[in-house]
Amino acid sequence: MKGLFITIEGTDGAGKSTQIQHLKELLKKRGYEVKLTREPGGTRISEKIRKIILDKKHSEMSARAEALLYAASRAQHVEEVIKPALKRGEIVICDRFVDSSMVYQGRGRLLGYESIKEINDFATGQLEPELTILFDIKPEISLRRIDAKKNGDRLEREKFSFHQEAYNGYRDLAKIFPKRIRSVDANRSVEQIRDNIRLIIEDLLRVKE
Ligand code: TYD
Repeated sequence: MKGLFITIEGTDGAGKSTQIQHLKELLKKRGYEVKLTREPGGTRISEKIRKIILDKKHSEMSARAEALLYAASRAQHVEEVIKPALKRGEIVICDRFVDSSMVYQGRGRLLGYESIKEINDFATGQLEPELTILFDIKPEISLRRIDAKKNGDRLEREKFSFHQEAYNGYRDLAKIFPKRIRSVDANRSVEQIRDNIRLIIEDLLRVKE
């Protein structure tokens, strides 16, 4: 089997991190080499870009600069981490990828899906995940979890309508790409979500093997 590229998406506070760990363990138990990574970040340079993007002091950042910084961080990440791991035949699980830019910058920042797709095609050389697991949970519920943590980063501090737009954007994308994007109802218990993801992954592996 060649490498397999899986991305994880969803609004802030959707509970992705816990499930990503479960997924990693599941795949490792089955004997796969797993590379876990995240965006923005995943390389030395990309983590520096992440700090610039999420810095609470950078309130003057323009929407276009923000979109390009996410894309720049992604370009480095794809080149340095994702593509080499896929070449080695590993399963790459990436916490957020181009879909995040589509919904947060394309829809949330009103830059439009077209321009976001264009700069990201350039950044990634048109690399696309084979599977995207979308954590579907209304922002009014997921954001409460972040409220509890207080001190959110620049994006988390955005007004509610921004997150609502991102959520609507994810729903759009799930309709446009029903084969690639599998929605998971993230309102349920950790165990239920874990089992749901396991079934989705088993489906995919059956086809790939
Ligand atoms: P992340 O660290 O994944 O936050 P969380 O752990 O809360 O999900 O991402 C940081 C923020 O960056 C998050 O609010 C989503 C946003 N983001 C974009 O707006 N565009 C992008 O392309 C990516 C990758 C993230």
